[in-house]
Amino acid sequence: MFRKNTQPPTPESDQPLAASADRHLLYQHSVQDVEAEIDFIEQTWSELRARPAVFLREDFCGTANTACEWVKRDDEHHAVGVDLDMDVLNWGRAHNLASLDPEQFERIELLHEDVVHTRPGLVDIILAMNFSYYLFLDRESLREYFAAALDGLVSDGILFLDAYGGFEAPMVLEEPRECEDEDGNEFTYIWEQAAFNPIDSCMTCNIHFEFPDNSRLDKAFSYHWRLWTLPEIREILYEAGFSQVDIYWEGTDEDKNEGNGIYTPSEIGDADPGWVCYIVAQP
Ligand SMILES: C[S@@+](CC[C@H](N)C(=O)[O-])C[C@H]1O[C@@H](n2cnc3c(N)ncnc32)[C@H](O)[C@@H]1O
Repeated sequence: MFRKNTQPPTPESDQPLAASADRHLLYQHSVQDVEAEIDFIEQTWSELRARPAVFLREDFCGTANTACEWVKRDDEHHAVGVDLDMDVLNWGRAHNLASLDPEQFERIELLHEDVVHTRPGLVDIILAMNFSYYLFLDRESLREYFAAALDGLVSDGILFLDAYGGFEAPMVLEEPRECEDEDGNEFTYIWEQAAFNPIDSCMTCNIHFEFPDNSRLDKAFSYHWRLWTLPEIREILYEAGFSQVDIYWEGTDEDKNEGNGIYTPSEIGDADPGWVCYIVAQP
């Protein structure tokens, strides 16, 4: 027998904050800085090329936040985002693309495809950010992706990647960081390196979110990927056919003894506990 529920509905304010949280919004507010990313790309492109870049492909685009930033920057900019996950693409359409003006919206397209097999037409720039290509676990599949990216570029196009490392990167640890959403609501982003296997360099990482009422979104995102080293990535890019691969290393703010947000081509980096850099690969 079903019993009629006599409990009054719980007022929304009594719900734990985690229950109404949107993991994609939290991700965008804690992990991504698409303005800084596109600043770097525009600056670097203008240093390397005498013509403006127009067509950008965002591989592993997720919510296509970076692709949206590209079309907002200039009336001439066009973008295509590629991702395997239809749910995340739909979220991006409903939120990020829906907030573009109609003219910007005309200049962006999302494809539910594998980055290795997609052929949306040649572009000036391909970017693969937040280490997504670490999802390829062996040299052969990583080389296949890089070769496909090279095939997707015009002759003077550029592939932009990021990479992370440092002596804390293979450690099992949790790293909390305080964040805010666009309405000033505070939450804690927790990056967890849950497991690392030194034999194959593969690791499992999770992102958790915690709220001021102590409720949590556990494993909001999980990744099983390989912690590639910069020499490996460079070698594989050259094997895939790129002719110049530069590492853009972050400078140091000497007063604060921390990164200054300025990345320049470098052959010597610091042995920091944790670093993030850009890789710029040219055909
Ligand atoms: C770490 S997220 C990156 C999101 C976004 N690029 C960023 O900068 O934050 C990885 C994304 O890659 C997608 N993905 C994984 N393998 C893929 C593949 N072979 N082709 C296309 N997308 C893939 C996943 O669906 C997921 O949305």
